[in-house]
Amino acid sequence: MNLTELNKVATAMVASGKGILAADESSGTIKKRFDAIGVDSTEDNRRDYREMLFRSREAMSRYISGVILYDETIWQNAADGTPLVKLIEQSGAIPGIKVDEGTQALPMCPGELVTVGLDKLAERLKKYYERGARFAKWRGVIDIGSGIPSMTAISVNAHALARYAALCQAAQIVPIVEPEVLMDGDHDIDRCYEVTQRVLNKTFQELRVQRVALEGMVLKPNMAISGKKCPKQASVEEVAEKTIRLLKACVPAAVPGIAFLSGGQSDEEATAHLNAMHKLGPLPWGLTFSYGRALQAAPQKAWAGKAENVAAGQTAFSHRARMNGLASKGEWQS
Ligand code: 13P
Repeated sequence: MNLTELNKVATAMVASGKGILAADESSGTIKKRFDAIGVDSTEDNRRDYREMLFRSREAMSRYISGVILYDETIWQNAADGTPLVKLIEQSGAIPGIKVDEGTQALPMCPGELVTVGLDKLAERLKKYYERGARFAKWRGVIDIGSGIPSMTAISVNAHALARYAALCQAAQIVPIVEPEVLMDGDHDIDRCYEVTQRVLNKTFQELRVQRVALEGMVLKPNMAISGKKCPKQASVEEVAEKTIRLLKACVPAAVPGIAFLSGGQSDEEATAHLNAMHKLGPLPWGLTFSYGRALQAAPQKAWAGKAENVAAGQTAFSHRARMNGLASKGEWQS
């Protein structure tokens, strides 16, 4: 393992003014997104849609540091035969790959999940590296509800994240470690804070036990935020203040960067929260976005599966990318 090189990639992923495009929706998830805009989820439509994003010159070259791909996409070619990975590289962004294989029910823990995909991961990473991937993503999912999360769910997911991260570094790939505490439910921001604190502490404990080099990883956490159905929604300032307090308490300064998931926040909320956090600097790590929905909802709507809307889709994507790029420097204005 070359830690200097891993650190260089991790640092580039969170470069000031840039962030990550999470375009790694599984076939099931992208079908849901396409259903919402009345588009059939065929292999060609998925390719055309992602090609539209990766060919958005302004967004990709100025505001996007890296793109997380799904397995199908990393092997796909653009309509003119150019590998999609090459389009990303040509724009100056770094290709990455989602390597977890989704979740399964966790035995003995009703309603809780564990992320799977460690078997054969070492061999898969080798192939992804050869194809151009320089970072990877694995998402653990923790739900908040009555009596959950259990310590069991937090532990097994942290263990799997650390196993994955160590395998990535051994394959010269930067792991994005994503322990997502869901914002579904009616819990308040303080409950989210308390659960996320337990999850992050356990995750970093496992990372240490399994000898993961913190300098060669990126953390992708949720923000400390009110549950979607909570009657009392915390303000932008409260989300920013509590998230930064939480991260400072749990994330060592050796970690080069933190890139948030959007998790179901609206586009503007996701931008406003990141921006407000940068008003609370200086911060010990790079702090940016790794948004899926908050970057793609607008271009999906503008595109709607029609070739004649490609330019409109790219304009919508570039706008959101630019807004989040500004927010990653605390320079966004509503
Ligand atoms: P969202 O920003 O839509 O939550 O997606 C980010 C992601 O990669 C979740 O795993």
